[in-house]
Amino acid sequence: MSQTLQSVRGMNDILPDEAEFWEVFEETVRSWLKSYGYRPIRMPIVEPTPLFKRAIGEVTDIVEKEMYSFEDSLNGEQLTLRPEGTAGCVRAVIQHGLANQIPRRLYYIGQMFRHERPQKGRYRQFHQVGVESIGFAGPDIDAEMILMGARLWDDLGLDGIELQINSLGQPEERAQHRAALIAYFERYQDILDEDAKRRLYTNPLRILDTKNPALQEMCAQAPKLIDYLGAESLAHFEGVQQVLKDAGVPYTVNPRLVRGLDYYNLTVFEWVTDKLGAQGTVCAGGRYDGLVGQLGGKATPACGFAMGVERLIALIKESGGEPAAPAPDVYVVHQGEQASRLAFRVAEGLRDQGIDVLLHCGGGSFKSQMKKADGSGATFAVVIGDDEAATGEAQLKFLREEGAAQLKLKVDDLAEAIIGQLIDSDEEE
Ligand code: HAM
Repeated sequence: MSQTLQSVRGMNDILPDEAEFWEVFEETVRSWLKSYGYRPIRMPIVEPTPLFKRAIGEVTDIVEKEMYSFEDSLNGEQLTLRPEGTAGCVRAVIQHGLANQIPRRLYYIGQMFRHERPQKGRYRQFHQVGVESIGFAGPDIDAEMILMGARLWDDLGLDGIELQINSLGQPEERAQHRAALIAYFERYQDILDEDAKRRLYTNPLRILDTKNPALQEMCAQAPKLIDYLGAESLAHFEGVQQVLKDAGVPYTVNPRLVRGLDYYNLTVFEWVTDKLGAQGTVCAGGRYDGLVGQLGGKATPACGFAMGVERLIALIKESGGEPAAPAPDVYVVHQGEQASRLAFRVAEGLRDQGIDVLLHCGGGSFKSQMKKADGSGATFAVVIGDDEAATGEAQLKFLREEGAAQLKLKVDDLAEAIIGQLIDSDEEE
């Protein structure tokens, strides 16, 4: 016998119980995005590899070790499964001239792929809600994006998600800081690990991102970027903080927050929880004023963030959140040839009236069908046998109340009776 095939390691099936939870989550997210004026965009999952190299940076974990890249065997093109959405979104904005209609507020929801070591909260296929605003230069949009996060946690009933912010300044300020960092790290050549040595002259800022405990103390004492920021960058950072203070959103300035992608400048931020173990960052982003120009568009400021859906769903569950289990209003039970034909007509007719119907499929005795009706969570069963079919009638049974009466009704009167009872039971709740 051949071996059963399994999903790829780190890439998960989302089964119906879980997927329903996701849908409720996505509904909340979509209405939250709409309330801030964001519009959807859907980009391909596969993009040309050079897009990510240029956008995210050659000397980053994502580009160096985590991309699923392959050659298209038909035309030799180098392609990559997207590890994130900002690069593709900006590519699409440039390609379709959307940048000429700036300012733009866009969002996407979808799969991303990174070849990381799978663990709780870290997967090789994961989902992000990405939010991008193109064409705004001031600190107001950075701050609004952060406030958006605070509101969503509230809408989702989550608390204890802490906000960390930092400013990465502008490229020339970072260049001065970089020179100081290199000089500093050169004094510690003997303790630098392989990764740090390799990054010393290519991307020394990334050394601060190290997970190696032996380097933590040295990194803590390293020159701080904030000390190299000029007046304009500091004013931008102040502007963001002012709005956060006015809105009463608590935050911590974390000078070591450098992010794992190279396109950022000025404001960067992360929302972090301690309830998910090591993978506690549920949302992260910042300003990326250079990216549109770098990818061939007209220089345009931009800012954005992305949330990890798996992590947020885990946090909602951890906080005792229950998905609203969607149940049909009606389960249609039927037996006999005439009854089955009528059952189809009844089910479609009820749906025409906006009633959610599960039509029993697969036959079986009345008793076993009634069990399924009960298990479905439906409020009513509509029961049709050949006797009822002959007179164009059906039994309406209320499933959620012990000993409730069973009504025999003309099938054309079912919708009215069901809607009436649904309204009554809503009022009682
Ligand atoms: P990122 O920090 O790489 O940023 O990812 C954003 C979020 O995606 C993380 O905070 C985390 O919640 C989730 N995430 C990342 N990797 C994984 C993984 N392997 N498994 C599960 N969840 C994961 C970006 O991707 C930027 N594009 C964000 C952005 C948008 N910046 C500006 N605009």
